[in-house]
Amino acid sequence: MLCKPIMCGIVGYVGKHKAADILIEGLKRLEYRGYDSAGLALLDEGGIELMKKTGRVDVVAKVAQSRPTTATMGISHTRWATHGGVTDGNAHPHLSWDGKIALVHNGVIENYAFLKAELEAKGVTFRSETDTEVLANLIAFCYDAESVSNGGGYSAAFVQAVRQALLQVEGTYGIAAMCADVPGELVGARKGSPLIIGVGNGENMIGSDVAAFAGRTQNVVYLNDGQVVHLHRGDFSITTVDSLSIDPVISKIDWSVEDADLGHYPHFMLKEIFEQPMAIENAMRGRFSQDGSTAQFGGLNIDPRELRQIDRIVFLGCGTAWHSCLVAEYLIEKFARIPVEVEYASEFRYRNAPLDKNTLVFTVSQSGETIDTLEAMREAMRKGYRVLGITNAVGSTIARENDGGIYQHSGPEIGVASTKAFTAQVHIAAMLALYLGRMRDMSFTDGRHVVSALQKTPGLISQVLDRAEEIEHIAHKYADKNDFLFLGRQLMFPIALEGALKLKEISYIHAEGYPAAEMKHGPIALICPDCPTVAFAPKGEIFKKVLSNIQEIKAREGPVIAITNAGKEFPEGLADDVIKLPESPEVVQPTLFTVPVQLLAYYIAVARGCDVDKPRNLAKSVTVE
Ligand code: F6R
Repeated sequence: MLCKPIMCGIVGYVGKHKAADILIEGLKRLEYRGYDSAGLALLDEGGIELMKKTGRVDVVAKVAQSRPTTATMGISHTRWATHGGVTDGNAHPHLSWDGKIALVHNGVIENYAFLKAELEAKGVTFRSETDTEVLANLIAFCYDAESVSNGGGYSAAFVQAVRQALLQVEGTYGIAAMCADVPGELVGARKGSPLIIGVGNGENMIGSDVAAFAGRTQNVVYLNDGQVVHLHRGDFSITTVDSLSIDPVISKIDWSVEDADLGHYPHFMLKEIFEQPMAIENAMRGRFSQDGSTAQFGGLNIDPRELRQIDRIVFLGCGTAWHSCLVAEYLIEKFARIPVEVEYASEFRYRNAPLDKNTLVFTVSQSGETIDTLEAMREAMRKGYRVLGITNAVGSTIARENDGGIYQHSGPEIGVASTKAFTAQVHIAAMLALYLGRMRDMSFTDGRHVVSALQKTPGLISQVLDRAEEIEHIAHKYADKNDFLFLGRQLMFPIALEGALKLKEISYIHAEGYPAAEMKHGPIALICPDCPTVAFAPKGEIFKKVLSNIQEIKAREGPVIAITNAGKEFPEGLADDVIKLPESPEVVQPTLFTVPVQLLAYYIAVARGCDVDKPRNLAKSVTVE
């Protein structure tokens, strides 16, 4: 059976320092991409040394410590598998049958069965169930042939062999390979799975994410699909799979190693929740007009006159990002009166949706690598539509391929459950709605009110964060419940969905988000003393309606945790627990009301002993459909 490594993290190093330590450190930073098994392969005069184990990176780190090695180059991998067993044998790296080639791989070789049969017919035997081993053997086969025809030019033969093998492959890959005959050299390549070069001083790296280079270099080169990199300690060169030479463009990472470290926090998720005031500041920096009446964005690459002609917007995203798209829909329709549709990127890409000629498409993605969003974007672009993106990861594939967009500047998000990236997306959606609104009917004065409200958001979030202890106390009260409902209306509906998703993914509690008024059409049957409801009750048009919904739940003995920014208007004793938020204008409410449900989910998960930053079955960046 094929074991598909799908999200996975890759790190390769060639330099003058002890490779094992650097690879382990890099793998720990990429562990959010997968944590079923991990492994490394080192190369020195003694040949290739392989260590791989099921379990977390720490397990293989112990193996590496017990085997002192001085190798200064190697490749490594942390895996997230779908089909087949999570076994030591299926863990990466994989060695070719002759022990010459070591390979780590992220992606899926779709024609692996055909290639495997061909190799078996030539006498190759296989040790694992993976498609990666097929590719390692294919490279070894090509290398044999190349080194003979090159008359022993091992280095050139190795690179050419990787290219030759990749030309035969159908599917996706980010790879790092080394060859026992060619010490001091690594080869990497990508198609569909990210791969980045870390350009150091007397050392070079490759990795699936820039986080792998934290503390070693800020200089990076983002490889494009179909490109192959050949790395030495002191330099590197890039070609296409069909051998055309490419000039590298070196970019600088805009965050430091401290941003990617836990600091004094027990979990990345908590750290990232507390980073939200800063993330929102960063999302706004330099993005309001001088007269303070609208937002401005540098990278949209679209003429304002052209933007005025847009009469429909389609937003595409997955998971949490999809929830932020729903907030964008509400606010853009309200401020700019432009019809907005929100689609799951995974559905959009296969359903051949009719797009009108004045339709603008927006993708929203924290990682910028989610394959469903990426492919949906490519499909819209193939149809000739302009696609803009709201993305956090600078230099990610979506950010590089779209027509323009808005960077979130939220800094690295490492906890698997998205928090600060979501609120930054929501905030940017509000700024975008303001920008589009001001191009249409929104007045100067109304624009200034919205700007002033948005600017207050970081301070308001800090006030909510000050109540973390109180929310922790409430979390302990309900941590043993196995079902939750989250109810919200209008702008609070996406936040109800997001609250339910956060709780599900990190505490494994069944939770559902519903528009509050829909409860009586079905979910009310779930209400009982063992099913708490989180009810969002912001002041405004629908406040009284939500109070009635809460009454209906209480009448059926359901516990209620209410989240409200109302003062005395919220009836004493109506809910079992009330989380009071500061007064805030409507445009800020989606961001503000998200924070307590993030904290609630976090503290419940901790109380249940769950691994908050690495929840079971999940990985942060979903790079295969
Ligand atoms: C949930 C979560 C996921 C992501 C989704 C899209 O906490 O993180 O639902 O939001 O996989 O990821 P991006 O935004 O990277 O495209």
